[in-house]
Amino acid sequence: MSDDTAITDISTDAGTLARRAADWLVERAMSTEGRFTLALSGGSTPKLLYQLLASSDYIDRMPWSRTHLFWGDERFVAPDSKRSNYRMVRDAMLTKVPLKPEQIHPVPITTSPMLSAAHYERELKSFYGADVLEAARPLFDVTLLGLGTDGHTASLFPGTDALDEVERWATVSSAIAGTKPTVFEPRISLSFPALNSSRAAAFLVAGADKSAMLGKVMAGQGNLPAARIEPVGQLFWFLDRAAAEGLGE
Ligand code: 6PG
Repeated sequence: MSDDTAITDISTDAGTLARRAADWLVERAMSTEGRFTLALSGGSTPKLLYQLLASSDYIDRMPWSRTHLFWGDERFVAPDSKRSNYRMVRDAMLTKVPLKPEQIHPVPITTSPMLSAAHYERELKSFYGADVLEAARPLFDVTLLGLGTDGHTASLFPGTDALDEVERWATVSSAIAGTKPTVFEPRISLSFPALNSSRAAAFLVAGADKSAMLGKVMAGQGNLPAARIEPVGQLFWFLDRAAAEGLGE
């Protein structure tokens, strides 16, 4: 099923990028038969996309009744924390769109990051209906992703053990939250096997600060986490012009 040709779409700015991604997403959802399973990313660029999907221009175009939402990663914080990816999506979109609670699958924040990851993996497996991922039957129809300036995606950070996870679908990782003093923030992230079990994975990348790293990731520097996203289906890059500067002609 894998299609090695990545599709790149370059917009003038982040707002246009979000609109292009929204149009693409609606089309994917409409052309998917049965339930449409979407893995969400945190970050500022996807937030614009979520706001758009809930806006009057898009809300009636999405097949909400057969859409299920999952999260690619989450910080180990309370769901109403300002750092929670669930809260970001809730505020941007969930309070406005007609989704039933059983269609929304946030990462559960339990007593420990490890337990949260284990519970999430169980939920994913039960939704998927099997314990082993089959290439011919991807877990997600669409997986949305961001790119960090260090090359991370979801919460898979360079040099961490989470990158080596080949069995688990959800794993624990940590990121530096703030610099002074350095605090390691535990996170829960889907692993490469789970993220790559997607009919389509789409990176949303905006801003000049991403440009240099984007060039390296798109050139396939294998040690960078984002370069290890190889969905069983197709890979899409939604970029703005500032981020795309690093790609050359
Ligand atoms: C998060 C992420 C993370 C993010 C990138 C890019 O929760 O922060 O899932 O991987 O997508 O850091 O974030 P921006 O779009 O805000 O630059």
